[in-house]
Order: sequence, then C-alpha cells, then structure tokens
Amino acid sequence: MSDRVISPTSRPEEGAGEQSLRPRSLAEYIGQEQVVDSLRVFIEAARARREALDHILLYGPPGLGKTTLANVIAVEMGVSIKVTSGPVIERPGDLAAILTNLREGDVLFIDEVHRLSRIIEEVLYPTMEDYALDVVIGKGPAARSIRLKLPRFTLIGATTRIALMTSPLRDRFGATFRLDFYSMEAMKLIVARSAEILQIGIDESGVEEIALRARGTPRVANRLLRRVRDYAQVRGAGHIDQPTAMEALRMLEVDELGLDNADRRLLISLIDKFDGGPVGLDTLSASMSEDADTIMDVYEPYLLQLGFIDRTPRGRVATRRAYEHLSRPFVDKQDLQKSLFG
Ligand code: ADE
Repeated sequence: MSDRVISPTSRPEEGAGEQSLRPRSLAEYIGQEQVVDSLRVFIEAARARREALDHILLYGPPGLGKTTLANVIAVEMGVSIKVTSGPVIERPGDLAAILTNLREGDVLFIDEVHRLSRIIEEVLYPTMEDYALDVVIGKGPAARSIRLKLPRFTLIGATTRIALMTSPLRDRFGATFRLDFYSMEAMKLIVARSAEILQIGIDESGVEEIALRARGTPRVANRLLRRVRDYAQVRGAGHIDQPTAMEALRMLEVDELGLDNADRRLLISLIDKFDGGPVGLDTLSASMSEDADTIMDVYEPYLLQLGFIDRTPRGRVATRRAYEHLSRPFVDKQDLQKSLFG
C-alpha cells in the first residue's frame, strides 16, 4: 500500500526532494536524543583512536531515519558509505564484490538485514569479527578456501523486524539502537525545518497541525507538508495556516491522529467482523486482503503506539480507545463476564 499518503515507506519518485530534507550531520539531526547522544560518544572515541567504528544495528518501524542515520554516521566519521540490502545480496560473490571494494573505515549499510540468507550470513561472520573473507575457489575435490584480508570497515545493519534476526548475527554488532516514533516537539521542529528548506510559508498553527497528523514519522511529515502546500497554492492563499492544513488533510482523508482509510479499515474489520478480537494476524490479514507482513510492519506499530490495539497471545485486540476514536460503543467483555457469571 505504498500509495497511502501516510505510508512510512519511501517512494522512488520522492528521491531527490526527500534527500534535500534529510539531515546530513548529527548537529542537524532532530529527535532520537538518546541514540544521537550515544553515537556522538562512539564516533568521537573511534575518531580519536583512528579506528573504524564498531558495527551498529539500527531497528524500529519504517520511516524513522535508519538510512539517514547511517549516512550521517559516515559523514561524521569522514568515510564513504556503500548502501545495499539483505535480499539484494543473493550469492557469496555479491557480498565479496562489495566487501573488497571498501576502503579502511568505510561504512557498509545493509538495509533489511534480517532478510540475508543463511549462506550469506555465514560468509559475513568472519568479515565482521576478523575482517577476513573466506573465498572458495575451484569445484569438487580440487576446491579450496583462501582467506582474504579486508580493510577494517563498519557494518551498519537496519531492520524493522529484529525478532527475525538470528542471534549469531545480532551478537556480532557492537551496539544496537532502537529508533522510536518522534515526539511532538521533534515533529514540529522537523516540519518547520523542512518548510524553511522548501521555502514554504507556514505559521505555527500550520506546523502543529501537520506535526500532529504525521504519525511521529519524519518521512510522513515531509510528504504531508508537500501535499498541504499544493492545496494551499491551489485553493488557499499560498500560505499554510491551521484551517488550510485541516482542510487539506481532510481531503486526503488523514484524520486528527494521522490515521487514513487503511488504518480505519483495519480497526473496523477488527471491531465489526471479529467483535474486537482477539483475532490471529493471518485471519485478520485474509479478511482485509492485505499482506500480513505489511500489517505487522506498517499498520501495527503506530496503532500500538496510540494504544488502539493490543497484541495478546491469542491475537490482536481492539482497545476501548479504538472504539472511542471510531465512535463505536465499547463493551468491556471482562466486565460483562463478571456481571453475568460473578
Ligand atoms: N528530516 C527527516 N528526518 C529528520 C530528522 N531526524 N532531523 C531533521 N530533519 C529530518
């Protein structure tokens, strides 16, 4: 569902515009204070020792800036970055080609690191631990393995699904950071900064309205900002204030909390078809004709953050808040059971 205006995953056509809004240094980076503070210390220490930075694992919902942060780290270390992703590296030779092109201290960024195949993982382990690449040459009985020395490099892995990573791979990262949804304060600063870069006239109330509905996700904020600008240009006075932002977002069917039709469809399905749950992910996914992974990676993190759904051992449950948001009467099943059966 990448056509959703609130989709946290990036779109190819956003490339250049979105790039110009990304922070390039830690000083420009807004939010994620704990992660940024720790990174400052790591980077300064590694630079002082003239060593490559330890391998870093970044995880958390999509759109929160894992790729951006990897680029910022490379800039701060004064090294180059090579970007790839788990499913793209199919054969050991693909990985060998990438690794042997790195220079001392360079960053190798592997997105969707949980999707590396087991074979590739096996090749990766000695490169992460000893900067040694074992290459098999020849076939059959004549095959032998030679060990190539690699430059010291930093692997930055990113994943939305840390639970799917094998523990040997997880254990080989020196530091692991979880990126969380951005605070309202951070979102407002990000919207204001992006508006300034894009030279969009916007007042405080307009910034607030967009920040409020951007699901704690900078990529969503930047997309909403552009769409609201279009609206202001065509239907308004070219300047974004709160009424213009509200009007534009209503047209985009993004509600006060940043939910769109797809989110509401999930909640309504859960409430109307399954009586609020619990319902298993696969059943829910089939009932909505939506991919289970998309539900888990894209829909659920924000609904969980809002406290609209719970994940229980027996499945997904809609909470009282979800009923209230959708103006549905809420019946507490536990209360009901108690009143009926004591
Ligand atoms: N644009 C997107 N993410 C950002 C961030 N974390 N800080 C500043 N600008 C951003």
